[in-house]
Amino acid sequence: MDIESLKTQIDSEIQNISSAQSLEELRLKYLGRKGLLAQLTTSIPSLPAEQRSVVGQQVNDLKNRILSLINEKQKSLGLQSAKPTPGMVDISLPGITQDLGRLHPLTQVMDEICTIFQRLGFSVVEGPEIETEYNNFTGLNIPLEHPSREAFDTFYLKDQDKLLLRSHTSPVQIRAMQSARPPLAVIVPGRVYRPDAVDASHSFMFHQIEGFMVDEGIKFSDLKGVLEIFAKAVFGQEIKMRFRPHFFPFTEPSAEVDISCIICKGKGCSVCARKGWLEILGSGMIHPNVFKHVGYDPKKYTGFAFGLGIERIAMLKYGINDIRLFFENDLRFLEQF
Ligand code: DAH
Repeated sequence: MDIESLKTQIDSEIQNISSAQSLEELRLKYLGRKGLLAQLTTSIPSLPAEQRSVVGQQVNDLKNRILSLINEKQKSLGLQSAKPTPGMVDISLPGITQDLGRLHPLTQVMDEICTIFQRLGFSVVEGPEIETEYNNFTGLNIPLEHPSREAFDTFYLKDQDKLLLRSHTSPVQIRAMQSARPPLAVIVPGRVYRPDAVDASHSFMFHQIEGFMVDEGIKFSDLKGVLEIFAKAVFGQEIKMRFRPHFFPFTEPSAEVDISCIICKGKGCSVCARKGWLEILGSGMIHPNVFKHVGYDPKKYTGFAFGLGIERIAMLKYGINDIRLFFENDLRFLEQF
């Protein structure tokens, strides 16, 4: 059958069509895999060479013509066209949602704590995670024989006997005091490292915030006042605080600070090991030897310092019982914050 008569034939056939089913039958008859156009196409290679491209073009034109006739018919019958016309948007498809990111719970707690101290006039200062042995220990009055200087308590860098991964954020006290004169009120958030075996309450890397204030006439009562504002802002106005005498080489006197248990309110439960109190940080009045190391006159200046673990605060605040949850990157955990 030649192309011209196919054209006339389809024109008249399509006129009589009135249902989706017969339209589909017509489509298969002409455009199906074994349809009339396919037959025409397979015959092309056997044509004389000069006719092949002409006939190929005609078959192609005819195919487009049939497609647009079918399309028109679908419209006039009120049928949806099987293939969306280019540019058409199928509003029935599910949309592409954009998941919003959020800050890690440790970052949130760190930001919250920094904001509390910034409101009290503290500036945020950061220091390097690779620190000198001097800033991490000697400058802070930590003697050579102190256990924290041992290789199993600190990561020393290979072939660098004077460099290490800082084991606390306290060395930034030395850096900040060396580069500025009092009055100073500084907090230092950051990562610290200790070669501890990982378990529910230990990690070889964790986060601390160090804080200190130095000026003429800074007293222990200033430390108490600042820490009380901090603890109440984080854990609620109703909590109680207590200072327990302790020892740190870089403070004298030194104290560990407890808050009344936020679970049992002081009665004694499994979280506070029946004590009714939870330890939240270490603190004290900066040791005169630290001032000497940075060139401050210890007769003129006094100051307080404190250090706390972010993971511990976050675990208490949110009732989290395993530190590893912070670092496993499990969205089921992270999405809750
Ligand atoms: N640097 C101590 C630690 O990592 C924490 C600390 C305790 C910091 C008492 C202080 C402080 O500034 O006064 O265990």
